[in-house]
Amino acid sequence: KLILDTLESQSSIKDTRSLVLPDQSAPATSSEDQIVILGALNSLLSREMIKYETNEVLTHIPTPEGALILKDGSHEARVWQVLPIKGSGTPMTPIQLKKEIGDETAKVGQGRAFKNGWIGKEGDGLVKLTSEIRDTTQIDLQEIASTGTLKAGEKVLADLRKRKLVSQKKGQWFTVHKGPQFSTSTAKPETDLTVDMLTSGSWKTSTYKKYNFEAEGIPTSGGALHPLLKVREEIRNIFLEMGFAEMPTSSFVESGFWCFDALFVPQQHPARDLQDTFYISDPKEALPPNPDYYKRVSTIHEFGGYGSAGYRAPWSHEESSKLLLRTHTTASSAHMLYKLAAKCRGEKSEDDSEEFAHGVDSTEAGAGTERADDGFRPAKLFSIDRVFRNETMDATHLAEFHQVEGVVADRNLTLADLIGFMRVFFQKMGIEKVRFKPAYNPYTEPSLEIFAFHPMLDRWVEVGNSGMFRPEMLEPMGFPKDVRVHGWGLSLERPTMIRYGINNIRTLVGHKVSLDGIENSPAVMF
Ligand code: PHE
Repeated sequence: KLILDTLESQSSIKDTRSLVLPDQSAPATSSEDQIVILGALNSLLSREMIKYETNEVLTHIPTPEGALILKDGSHEARVWQVLPIKGSGTPMTPIQLKKEIGDETAKVGQGRAFKNGWIGKEGDGLVKLTSEIRDTTQIDLQEIASTGTLKAGEKVLADLRKRKLVSQKKGQWFTVHKGPQFSTSTAKPETDLTVDMLTSGSWKTSTYKKYNFEAEGIPTSGGALHPLLKVREEIRNIFLEMGFAEMPTSSFVESGFWCFDALFVPQQHPARDLQDTFYISDPKEALPPNPDYYKRVSTIHEFGGYGSAGYRAPWSHEESSKLLLRTHTTASSAHMLYKLAAKCRGEKSEDDSEEFAHGVDSTEAGAGTERADDGFRPAKLFSIDRVFRNETMDATHLAEFHQVEGVVADRNLTLADLIGFMRVFFQKMGIEKVRFKPAYNPYTEPSLEIFAFHPMLDRWVEVGNSGMFRPEMLEPMGFPKDVRVHGWGLSLERPTMIRYGINNIRTLVGHKVSLDGIENSPAVMF
């Protein structure tokens, strides 16, 4: 209202520091006042009632020490204040003076008071020489506090700055003109045309808020991919690029047979314990697998065969037929490898074999040699899906997570082939430095743990597990003796957490996940 009224009477305001704000007696020279004015200017500007330009100035404000002088006087004035006037009363000793006004003030003040001729010596003591003084430091600071500057000029200001009594601050002031919608009425402009306004005719005289075509629209909400899905897509592309075919992994429920026995995991293995695996209570039992294959698997466990001694432990059909939530996607790989070996077993090819078509290497090993066709076709298969473990949950473990798994079957593969595959695979994921460490898996021999160097953590972290599947697993399936199958597995969660800089799994999965975080999570590209 003040701004509009002033514009009405003067047509422009050259310097907003000349305005006297309501409930103030002096012009609005302080930077706080100008901030208040700026708020009002912006609100009037948005209604096009005014236009303004911004001017910058360096203003001065008293420091905390300056503020003390403003209140009590300069050090020299305070020395002068407490001394008796020459000729009346006992002169004050320097020690008494220090007691009276403090060490620091006495020390700094004495010198200046002497120089100004305000005080003098009398015997061992000090007295004041004049009955009146002009404390210019205090007077200057008063002027600075109320105007932000000093008429006396830059030299004095520089001196006060050096004495750390004032500091400089950037300030703004404004020049204001009338805008196209200028009026002295501060009534809010209309933002909507209503039926009432039309029937009463008030629309003719109302003022309207202008459309702001520059305003950003409200963000539209839509579906968003979870970070795990984004990373899954990237990894899937790596596999496809390397000529792998995706395995079907839709059955979360498996039997003990496919999850463990077919992989030559001993029936007494701790991974099969209740505290590690979730078992299904209803139905309890799986349908039986092919009886011949079942017989071969149970025989190799119990009595050995194909050159292996087996485990020589009694076979439990009950253990084998238990239903459970799969603990690894290697259960799906076992299904697929069994199917892959169908022709080798002499079974008529099911339409399934077509599934592998694009996983098969065209330069099939053995092509063009004398060997009779034993039905084997090489394959490169992968899967990325959910697995379940009865884990104690903490910042990095959940009872369900995703596994990424790659399986390669061909004649005469070596450990070097496996290492080579993994190097390329992890390199495509952006992991250049990998290291392999001998490990143990019941179904692979040799087995390797994969470690990657994490530059942000500055250490090697385990990223996966791998190995060459044992003949005890492959031969009962019917694969020829020279067929080797190697595989590797990793979790989807770990690279995702590393990628997104997340250190608690609950930020990524579960009820504490922020939907905003999911919507705004950036795309990933390896
Ligand atoms: N199944 C293994 C795991 O759960 C990963 C793996 C897959 C290891 C294939 C070797 C071969 O950790």
